[in-house]
Amino acid sequence: MRRPLLVANWKMHKSVAEAEDFAAALLPLLPPAGAELAIAPPFTALAALGRALRGSPVLLAAQNANPAESGAFTGEVAPAMLAELGCRYVIAGHSERRGLYGESDDFVAAKVCALLAAGLRPIVCVGESLEVRRAGGGAAEVVCRQLQNSLAGVPAGLAAELAVAYEPIWAIGTGETATPQAAQQMHAALREKLRGLFGAAAEAIRIQYGGSVKPGNAAALLAQPDIDGALVGGASLNPESFAALAAESGGAS
Ligand code: PGA
Repeated sequence: MRRPLLVANWKMHKSVAEAEDFAAALLPLLPPAGAELAIAPPFTALAALGRALRGSPVLLAAQNANPAESGAFTGEVAPAMLAELGCRYVIAGHSERRGLYGESDDFVAAKVCALLAAGLRPIVCVGESLEVRRAGGGAAEVVCRQLQNSLAGVPAGLAAELAVAYEPIWAIGTGETATPQAAQQMHAALREKLRGLFGAAAEAIRIQYGGSVKPGNAAALLAQPDIDGALVGGASLNPESFAALAAESGGAS
């Protein structure tokens, strides 16, 4: 049985003060026992949010990292720097980074390997565009290839540290969600791909769904056998709504 993983992706939202206020409001609202919870704030709020969450069941996550250990990479942040701040999870290859900043599968794979080497748990994002979805039939093949290429070089012995997020691009921030059945179909295909790559370790890898998840639609998605949590943008920005999502994901522990 995989423990559900619910992660807030705040994107470029919230100041340090707002992150601290969020933590103070969220912690008393959390339901007991169940899902693993994490919040990925902007880099600037990581240290303060880490302090505010200390001793709570909510883990710290980051939204991105550079594959290099150090060097002349202006504007970038290395995995070890995130580990030092107490991050447990790091999102890798979100479609906004792929689409807006040109991150390729190769670059994402290098990032995933570097994160694992630093003792961090990557959340590897994949998902098809509306064009691919409309073309019909081939979406699973496209997304599975993207997953395989984004995991190139990952040692099988570390595969259980991975999480995967299936985020159809047409569902991100649009209010449109994949139906639980359609999402389950894609998750099952991704699980099969993971079995091919890593064997039995694939059973331990959480595959999250992302794309307009909100209170009211999370429970039905998470009830599917291969949907093991959610990566949530918009609905994670409000403590009441994130707490409600935690309850729909089975509580916190
Ligand atoms: P959304 O974003 O929940 O606002 O659709 C999800 C994501 O981009 O991770």
